[in-house]
Amino acid sequence: MSTFGTLFRVTTYGESHCASVGAIIDGCPPGLELSAQDIQVQLSRRRPGQSDLTTPRNEKDFVQLQSGIEQGVTLGTPIALLVKNEDQRPHDYTETDLYPRPSHADYTYLQKYGIKASSGGGRSSARETIGRVAAGAIAEKYLKIVYGIEIVAFVSSVGKVHLPATIAPPSLTPINSDEEDDTANDALSKDLVNLLSTISRDEVDKYPTRCPHPETSERMIKRIIRAKDAQDSIGGTVTCVIRNVPSGLGEPVFDKFEASLAHAMLSIPATKAFEIGSGFRGTEVPGSQHNDPFVNDGTGRLRTTSNWSGGIQGGITNGENVYFRIGFKSPATISQAQDTAKYDGTPGSLAARGRHDPCVVPRAVPIVEAMAAIVVMDQLLIQNSRKTAANLLPPITTLPPTMVMPKKDF
Ligand SMILES: Cc1cc2nc3c(=O)[nH]c(=O)nc-3n(C[C@H](O)[C@H](O)[C@H](O)COP(=O)(O)O)c2cc1C
Repeated sequence: MSTFGTLFRVTTYGESHCASVGAIIDGCPPGLELSAQDIQVQLSRRRPGQSDLTTPRNEKDFVQLQSGIEQGVTLGTPIALLVKNEDQRPHDYTETDLYPRPSHADYTYLQKYGIKASSGGGRSSARETIGRVAAGAIAEKYLKIVYGIEIVAFVSSVGKVHLPATIAPPSLTPINSDEEDDTANDALSKDLVNLLSTISRDEVDKYPTRCPHPETSERMIKRIIRAKDAQDSIGGTVTCVIRNVPSGLGEPVFDKFEASLAHAMLSIPATKAFEIGSGFRGTEVPGSQHNDPFVNDGTGRLRTTSNWSGGIQGGITNGENVYFRIGFKSPATISQAQDTAKYDGTPGSLAARGRHDPCVVPRAVPIVEAMAAIVVMDQLLIQNSRKTAANLLPPITTLPPTMVMPKKDF
């Protein structure tokens, strides 16, 4: 369905060429100061036409607040937000009346519903993500004010152009490497830890690619332009960090924190992969090196000396930075002619017209941040409701020490 979340519930609506797209957000706490500008900042980072690296579809994506807010303050009631679709060009898509675009959603939507939007990607278009970004901006404002939580995503690769291996090591060692070699290499390098601890959105936005590394960003620009000039497309990865996450978030079985994150991230169009913490790389590192030992940080709080876990153990946050990486495929719609078949089964060649992103990752950054914020917000409300319910009970004083956190050692 079109709803995500349990207590912070986000329902998005809209197709690429209908009158508007947007969201209804239920469960936002009352009393949060909120303006359209709070939301607009992230929508403008997502909007098309930001640079030569994105689709030229010209949408300003101005948000209109419809309900749930009065005098600049949330009422606790559903917040409805809409953004008009203003630059639709349905005639761009006449070829796709005949052809399902290879690796797009035209064929599968028809299989599912027996009917599909007559032009554009309909509901499968990235226009749908506007509602998510708007909802995420609301969640983020609450999380920042109440918990100081910071969420920053950045582009970590485009095609085969990666951040230097010291910052973003490859997921797996290339085949034929020495199987006797147990060293963990740079999978959790100081550079990566430092980047995750310090990276800001202002720094990320200095680069049109949203890759915060000057030389790599330049090479990524060339790679994207090469794809564009060849009427082709290219994929990439986005890395995201969530800082100052309270410990104890995430439900221990089916709604583990990382499972909710994976659900959220893999619901973004064009995603193909999700890695939490050490990810696939962690499979190559012996436990003796992969474990995150505990240490008393001097204030009575247990921290870990490393963070291969990505801030989550047993599906529950441990208070360290949560970080993860998402793989985005090369966009399906390309104007290079491609042999394929028409809906009626006859073979043919499709050269798709229309305005399309040669690479989605620069624009995916605020979408990733939004989905992360929605997950954190939802899990926080769930944990807070559990704690509130527990705190209403009279204290139990007869528990054996093995059942509770010992106090005097910390
Ligand atoms: C920010 C963003 C922009 C996108 N732009 C395009 C595009 O211009 N052309 C295209 O074919 N797909 C684009 N996509 C991806 C499609 O929406 C997606 O591939 C399609 O819905 C099929 O779904 P799937 O790739 O998840 O299987 C974009 C995705 C994102 C996140």
